[in-house]
Amino acid sequence: MCEPTEDLVRASAGNALEEVVTSVDLVARSSNFLYRLETASGAAYSLRVPRLRPPVLSPFWQHLQDVFGLRYGTQLLSVGPILRAVDEDGLLQAPRPVAGTTVGDRPAYIFTWLEGTSREPDEFPDSTEVHERLGEYVARLHLRTYDTYGTLTEQAIDPAEFVTRTNASMRDTIARFWSHRPDIGAWFERHAAATDPDVFAGHLAPIMPDISGNQFVYHAGTLAGVVDLDSYVVGPRELELAVVETCLTRPEDFRRGYESVLPLPRFAEFRAYCRFWMLVCEGAGDPDVDEFLTHRTYFA
Ligand SMILES: Nc1ncnc2c1ncn2[C@@H]1O[C@H](COP(=O)(O)OP(=O)(O)O)[C@@H](O)[C@H]1O
Ligand SMILES: [Mg+2]
Repeated sequence: MCEPTEDLVRASAGNALEEVVTSVDLVARSSNFLYRLETASGAAYSLRVPRLRPPVLSPFWQHLQDVFGLRYGTQLLSVGPILRAVDEDGLLQAPRPVAGTTVGDRPAYIFTWLEGTSREPDEFPDSTEVHERLGEYVARLHLRTYDTYGTLTEQAIDPAEFVTRTNASMRDTIARFWSHRPDIGAWFERHAAATDPDVFAGHLAPIMPDISGNQFVYHAGTLAGVVDLDSYVVGPRELELAVVETCLTRPEDFRRGYESVLPLPRFAEFRAYCRFWMLVCEGAGDPDVDEFLTHRTYFA
């Protein structure tokens, strides 16, 4: 999708907010065109315009649709459960939904802006305080357990289906995006297809499958807020833990924070499968499979 013009964003947001929008800054363009808005009263908001147009999704969003039932583009209408959980736990701030609108023919969502410093890299900053708080934040959400999995608002899928669904979706993505890499297809057939579904059946909870350092903002030396709510689903905690492990710079501090709430599970059983899923989701580039599956391996 080409980028919406500043005038269009200003007009759409002004109508939705019923206020004059005095500044419009494009701050990110990955899954969303992400704008910071300021209005005449001095309030600041984020405006999110989903960039992809279903049915053509990226491998990651296609997986979330196939495996969890997440509807890319409208999932932000259903973030109430995660906002309530984050509020209850009281560790981090989260953006409040303010209005839904359209920018041209695209849906768009306005949230409050969180004060704090943003971060570009996936890695979390080299800080004990940040990692402990992150570990505790993730673990407190993992205390909310479910018997079935799905989206934040509808969990109708039996966990015994998780591996079958993930494999079906990966098989499709490999055929579409990785036909030039027979080693990726071979790893899938040899290992992914043989994965024990029970590894993922034990602990379903709210998870962010693309958790990384730039989904949060930072303030006064610690983690202050979670800003990217797009991908929250209810699913196996192992998936989120395997993803976050690749972004940690102080794993022992993360462990301390997590284990102040819950014991960490054994990573050996699920790491390679989840890492392979992450690799398949990249959909491009020339990754070294062994390196991808083993770098930043911290937990037993
Ligand atoms: N409500 C918000 N308050 C403060 N910063 C935000 C907010 N929303 C987004 N950001 C900033 O924009 C960046 C990209 O936002 P994000 O929600 O991760 O978009 P995307 O879905 O495109 O990944 C974040 O790293 C953060 O710095
Ligand atoms: Mg993001």
